[in-house]
Amino acid sequence: MMDFDLSNPTRIVFGQGRIDDLGKLVPRSARVLLLFGGGSIKHNGVYDRVMTGLGDRFVLPFGGVEANPQYDTVMAARAALIEADCTFVLGVGGGSVIDASKFLARIATMAAMDPWDALVAGDHPPAPLPNGAVLTLPATGSESNAVSVISRADYGLKLPFASDGARPAFAVLDPDTMKSLSRRQLENGVVDAFTHVIEQYLTLPVDAPVQHGYSETLLRTLIDWGPVLIETSSDESRAAIMWAANQALNGLIGSGVPQDWSTHMIGHALTALYGIDHARTLSAVMPSLLRFKSAGKLAMLVRYGRKVWQLDHADDQVVAAQAIDRTAAFFKQMNCPTKLSDFTDIAVEPEAVVSLIARAGQFPLGESRDIGAREVRAILEMAR
Ligand code: NZQ
Ligand code: ZN
Repeated sequence: MMDFDLSNPTRIVFGQGRIDDLGKLVPRSARVLLLFGGGSIKHNGVYDRVMTGLGDRFVLPFGGVEANPQYDTVMAARAALIEADCTFVLGVGGGSVIDASKFLARIATMAAMDPWDALVAGDHPPAPLPNGAVLTLPATGSESNAVSVISRADYGLKLPFASDGARPAFAVLDPDTMKSLSRRQLENGVVDAFTHVIEQYLTLPVDAPVQHGYSETLLRTLIDWGPVLIETSSDESRAAIMWAANQALNGLIGSGVPQDWSTHMIGHALTALYGIDHARTLSAVMPSLLRFKSAGKLAMLVRYGRKVWQLDHADDQVVAAQAIDRTAAFFKQMNCPTKLSDFTDIAVEPEAVVSLIARAGQFPLGESRDIGAREVRAILEMAR
């Protein structure tokens, strides 16, 4: 196992009806900027419950954060926050809103005229404003991790920004908020969480039995409960998926092990270029990427096949190939594409994807840093 530092100070407040605890979680004297998305929380009652929970605190609601949040929108929220002298950011929504909320908390304290440029240049900004999260869509793990993925239209980029200080002070995980999610969003959430585990698990074998074993438990949970969630949307399935998606990307299983994230970087480029849902970019690329990298990933692919899919063929090569096929079949079961040609109305240009990853400064990709422009072209060809 590699050395690691792990601190996850986010207090998880989990359970049906727990939004009502908000009043105890936000500091009494806080002036709250309440960040939300396109309006789902106004239709499903979450907004009213949040406002009730916040009681007589000063609250400035700021809506309109897009799926795949835009930098300009966060900058507009920043101007409103400064104008109203807010001291606390509360993000209420899915990964997009919570990413935007963490990023807003971070740039609120920065003096730079263009915080994006300053962060990309490696500036060390002051501590972020405190922030909290009320999650309404389990998928990204954003509610207790350090990352904000932000898109910038004038640069044509979608970049991840990480800051431990921007982790939410608390995250309310109330599975009842999932009742208004569409089937497509539920499918996306399960697939996104699944790929998060794979990106941290299917890499190189290191002596990390805790991380590997827990990853396998999370994968099995998503495989077993994802279909139940889609078909029945039972209380039990909502709770299982909400907790699994959080644990998939809260820092634990990625500690002390090599990480990949190449599917995600290719996927972010696909979303920036073509506006495809995040999870669907991942399911379309990951099976081909795993096939392309199967020699380097062989040991963990075999472990994955045997432990997660209970494959028992004597030949490791066969197990590895079958494990990838099972992965693709699971994505299909979740109604997600497994090839680029499944996007019938989009013609993906490999050159455009490669150039965007290059402009984002993300090459070389992969746990062995051996995925460059040539390899991405080959993976996208395989994914056609
Ligand atoms: O905007 P509203 O009206 O809230 O509607 C949203 C949005 O249209 C809707 N929604 C959310 N909760 C709902 C609901 N509709 C009905 N009922 C509810 N309870 O769902 C739509 C999608 O929401 P979004 O937040 O975009 O989805 P998701 O949680 O999948 O987040 C995706 C974003 O997170 C980034 C992705 O790149 C993408 O930008 N990621 C963030 C990561 C992180 N912070 O660690 C890691 C991930 O890999 C990912 O890159
Ligand atoms: Zn993801």
